[in-house]
Amino acid sequence: MPKIKELECSRCKTAVSAETPQTLCPKCAGSLYVRYDLGTAKGLTKREQIARDGEAGGWAGMWRYRSVLPEVKPVTLGEGWTPLLRSKRYPNVVVKEEGANPTGSFKARGLALAVTMAKHYGLEKLAVPSAGNAAGALAAYAAAAGIEANIFMPKDVPFANYVEARMYGAKVTLVDGLISDCGRIVAERKEKEGWFDISTLKEPFRIEGKKTMGYELVEQLGWEYPDAVFYPTGGGVGFIGMWKAFAELEELGWVKPGKKPKMIAVQSSGCAPMVRAFEEHATTSKMWERAATFAAGLRVPKPYGDYIMLEILQASGGVALAFPDEVILASLLDWAKNEGIFLSPEGAAATAAYDNLLKTGFLNPSDRVVLFNTGAGLKYTDVTAQAAGIQRMN
Ligand SMILES: Cc1ncc(COP(=O)(O)O)c(C=O)c1O
Ligand SMILES: [Zn+2]
Repeated sequence: MPKIKELECSRCKTAVSAETPQTLCPKCAGSLYVRYDLGTAKGLTKREQIARDGEAGGWAGMWRYRSVLPEVKPVTLGEGWTPLLRSKRYPNVVVKEEGANPTGSFKARGLALAVTMAKHYGLEKLAVPSAGNAAGALAAYAAAAGIEANIFMPKDVPFANYVEARMYGAKVTLVDGLISDCGRIVAERKEKEGWFDISTLKEPFRIEGKKTMGYELVEQLGWEYPDAVFYPTGGGVGFIGMWKAFAELEELGWVKPGKKPKMIAVQSSGCAPMVRAFEEHATTSKMWERAATFAAGLRVPKPYGDYIMLEILQASGGVALAFPDEVILASLLDWAKNEGIFLSPEGAAATAAYDNLLKTGFLNPSDRVVLFNTGAGLKYTDVTAQAAGIQRMN
């Protein structure tokens, strides 16, 4: 594992030491990236070592990439190295099944690393505003690490998210509002309560954990980029993390430098601040009023890392697009019935987006595509049953 060289601001490039816990850039409040001296990990021999060590050395899951993760003892529940499922109908489409993670979502990756670092730093109390799945993941990893978790989430989150957070022993507050309201409460109370705030993009290690999705999909495709990556976008941690991974992969010489994948940000028409900002050629997003969608993870009315995502959309030749909940639900049912995959509503936004971009000609059937199912459909039975009109007879 490499030593962290520094934390670098995504906006003004100011360097900050990682010796003590950090949140945002002290100069401009931009999100911080973890930077290493990657010299010792460079080259194909080091790349080949990943699979060998992974199998033999007990470095399972996302920790197979420990040569590009901080030098710390992991708090792990077996996160990462999720399957790539080939579509039965579209030969060039694979689904990255993130529902296979502990707590049933990709949030496990970012929170495994954030909690690992919190333990390393000796932090005792963490706090997070959450659209749902981050809450469950934080609660689990905090329990595993013996750290207190303070969670604030909208009162209408999928029930599973509330139950799991409670079961893991977190201190849970349900808020009559959105994740932005939850974030405000954490910000107001954290100093007095002695909480360390691990909100999306307000500390550097959730991006760092989620970057492993980028490493994995490239390795699982034979160390080659796909043509496009579809990502259901709320706060955008994975979107940003994967783009960081692609830059690192090129620096390491683990992938042929060249055409990186088109990054496709997918939202719901009920909360689409990134789509609006992209269409207006803006450099930041505006708060989305009255955000509402059954894809709970996409209900982020003003992503903190909007400026980074807009840069990535531009640089990758990607696009941001949104669909009404009815279209997302139709795609969810389509994939369940025809592929045997029970997507989360967020994942179904990605499959709906794929259908759309084939129709518009933005993509061809021959393009190699990765669709992210960011969470297990089974975490949403209350929400999807209601949306699909399924009721149990008494
Ligand atoms: C299942 C699911 N998909 C997507 C998202 C959005 O994730 P991100 O914040 O990385 O954009 C979330 C966030 O809560 C989620 O739970
Ligand atoms: Zn800065």
